[in-house]
Amino acid sequence: MQTLQVELGDRSYPIYIGQGLLAQAKHLLAPHIHGKSCVTITNTTIAPLYLAAVEQAIADKKHSASILPDGEAYKTLETVNTIYTHLLEQRADRKTTLIALGGGVIGDMTGFAAASYQRGVDFIQVPSTLLAMVDSSVGGKTGVNHPLGKNMIGAFHQPNAVLIDTNTLNTLADRELSAGIAEVIKYGLIRDLVFLEWLDQHMEKLLARDAEALTYAIHRSCEHKAAVVAADERETGERALLNLGHTFGHAIEAGMGYGEWLHGEAVAVGTLMAAELSQRMGWLGKQDVAFMRQLFERAKLPTTPPSQLSGDDFKRYMAVDKKVLDGSLRLILMKALGQGIVTADFDASALHQVLNRP
Ligand code: NAD
Ligand code: GLY
Repeated sequence: MQTLQVELGDRSYPIYIGQGLLAQAKHLLAPHIHGKSCVTITNTTIAPLYLAAVEQAIADKKHSASILPDGEAYKTLETVNTIYTHLLEQRADRKTTLIALGGGVIGDMTGFAAASYQRGVDFIQVPSTLLAMVDSSVGGKTGVNHPLGKNMIGAFHQPNAVLIDTNTLNTLADRELSAGIAEVIKYGLIRDLVFLEWLDQHMEKLLARDAEALTYAIHRSCEHKAAVVAADERETGERALLNLGHTFGHAIEAGMGYGEWLHGEAVAVGTLMAAELSQRMGWLGKQDVAFMRQLFERAKLPTTPPSQLSGDDFKRYMAVDKKVLDGSLRLILMKALGQGIVTADFDASALHQVLNRP
């Protein structure tokens, strides 16, 4: 097992990474559960696979499970309300710990329920998708979608611990694995050229679910995530870099209807749109963008925006992005491979050309 630490003073917490950790979860989770009761939040797909292992780990606590419908389309306030109802029915109190067992959808909703139930209770992340392991389970961003904008309602609320059992990836669909790889590539693109080169060399091993390669990719990604979150928890600066491709990607997710495109797929295409804009700004070379396109293609990710979305559609959704400050849009672009920047200083006509591709 490998352990990383997210350094946030008295709210610091560990990320445990290893194969078969759910079998040791009792001993790993116990120090992070401070009350006598736990509620696991999961969904109808994951419960039959992994809920029993979690329940065994918390067998000495009063425990119950809230099993939600599966899908991005259910990442709503209405679904969070069903979590509140469950918590109230179970007489959950301020010492109850919530356990998020699932991908980013479950993690984001459980975190938001934990942030808001009785003004805040503890929660633990047990991510079961690659995307959740490398990104969403770490860093405390929680929330739900609104029809007019992705992740628009939420709160910062850090978990007490993150437990990553890489064996859970064995049951994940190939398409979901690829979606997670999009967020792994992101770390290489924004801040780690050496890791980007490693990904170039090991992409096929990742797709074949080579345990050593996956564990390394998860560990390196979590190191980056932990470092960025420790430096800028509330996204006043460099944390925004983690949103490379997301402003374009969120427009695709919302514009196409939540769940139609996977988050990681939308991020892959959004990242290439950001790269094209960076090329038009003279920062990336043509060969850099071609390299990125090939890497995403090898990861079995889409590389072109959906034809149904017009440039105006993109603009409408991008106008409600969380990186809009005082009415001006900031984008995450790339100065070079391995070097992201947050900037409002981009050429509006170049953006127009990227959004209105032929
Ligand atoms: P997801 O949570 O929808 O999970 C993908 C699918 O895999 C679901 O059908 C799920 O039931 C299934 N699944 C999960 N684990 C499984 C397993 N081990 N075996 C078999 N099936 C399994 O999608 P995701 O990609 O994990 O998360 C996407 C969400 O994360 C988006 O809503 C996105 O906005 C959010 N996100 C949040 C952050 C953050 O910082 N909070 C960062 C990135 C993404
Ligand atoms: N996934 C972006 C962030 O956590 O800031």
